[in-house]
Amino acid sequence: MARLSNRLSLPMKPNLKPRIPNFSSGPCAKRPGWSPAVLAGALVGRSHRSKPGKAKLAEVISLSRSILGIPADYRVAIVPASDTGAVEMALWSLLGPRGVDMLAWESFGEGWVTDVAKQLKLADVRVLKADYGALPDLAEADFARDVVFTWNGTTSGVRVPDGDWIAGERQGLTICDATSAAFAMALPWDKLDVVTWSWQKVLGGEGAHGMLVLSPRAVARLESYKPAWPLPKLFRLTSGGKLSEGIFAGETINTPSMLAVEDAIDSLKWAESVGGLAGLIARVTRNAAAIDKWVARTPWVDHLAARPETRSPTSVCLVIADPWFRGLDAQDGAVGGQAEAAKRLVALVEAEGAGFDLGAYRDAPPGLRIWAGATVETSDLEALFPWLDWAFGEIRSAAAAA
Ligand SMILES: Cc1ncc(COP(=O)(O)O)c(C=O)c1O
Repeated sequence: MARLSNRLSLPMKPNLKPRIPNFSSGPCAKRPGWSPAVLAGALVGRSHRSKPGKAKLAEVISLSRSILGIPADYRVAIVPASDTGAVEMALWSLLGPRGVDMLAWESFGEGWVTDVAKQLKLADVRVLKADYGALPDLAEADFARDVVFTWNGTTSGVRVPDGDWIAGERQGLTICDATSAAFAMALPWDKLDVVTWSWQKVLGGEGAHGMLVLSPRAVARLESYKPAWPLPKLFRLTSGGKLSEGIFAGETINTPSMLAVEDAIDSLKWAESVGGLAGLIARVTRNAAAIDKWVARTPWVDHLAARPETRSPTSVCLVIADPWFRGLDAQDGAVGGQAEAAKRLVALVEAEGAGFDLGAYRDAPPGLRIWAGATVETSDLEALFPWLDWAFGEIRSAAAAA
């Protein structure tokens, strides 16, 4: 065995570390140049319903609208409980009058299936499912029904390639969880009736608040349909059968964090400073290309997403393709198995302070997940790769020597 280890050419331990070694898929890295000083103007200790408080909230809405190119007749709101809050608000408020197609190919999409099938217990639910790394057959989605899907599956690194599969003329609503896609990918607003995201993803904001966008058709559904189940105050978007317009003008349902609001404004202004949506997409594309280049020259690693056009450029999920690793027990929690080895690799890099939060999501196949959203610098990714090569060499040779 010792001889085997000698024959492995081990990469040297690198010297250079990423300047910002944060690669978590949420909360994601803060924007370049961020410091707590950007919060100096936060309206802390004041009411969010005061004139300046409401103005701050309205600024988040108007900046989001202009950067993302959201049509003027779509409503945009800040809602409680992050992206989950926004999605669940939509599911609980809108679903029921039609059958529902649920598309799921990773953990978050599956969570929405549980909500609709097991919590709301809707009678007519079709689940179009695929395993980690693949997409369900998008052509099967029936737009006479409501269709619920995730634009970018953060835990598998698989995204829908575009909106071409969505019917322009449709009877049902499309409800899209876009939390790790918004500000990183082009969203076809005319094809989407509900879109949600949270602040702590592509723009590196703070957790707690969600964004909810409604098309005029979604508003028409809200005003014409009353769910059979009770709606908690936190989910209520209508009053007396009419849309509560104030919610879409910064009058939040309950109290937001004015520190988080200030931080969101800072992140949106930064987004403008790098060229708005086109600039953000260019940053993300450059990052994804850097990862692709490393994967192409690195035999031990490969993409989890099989088809290149479905590969997420933000939450990049990678598998360990080395035959030694593939030969390890793939069972969840197996001693000496794949998950344990992948965790050792990630821990080695983390212990050196060279890269944090790089492990695959707990329900995903063992491997790496590297956040490459707009706030991540390409140079930091390039500084990370040698550390990953080094750490893989370490765990591989330790196994060979054992
Ligand atoms: C696709 C997707 N949906 C939902 C969520 C849950 O988001 P939040 O924690 O903002 O509620 C996440 C978080 O990573 C996600 O990636």
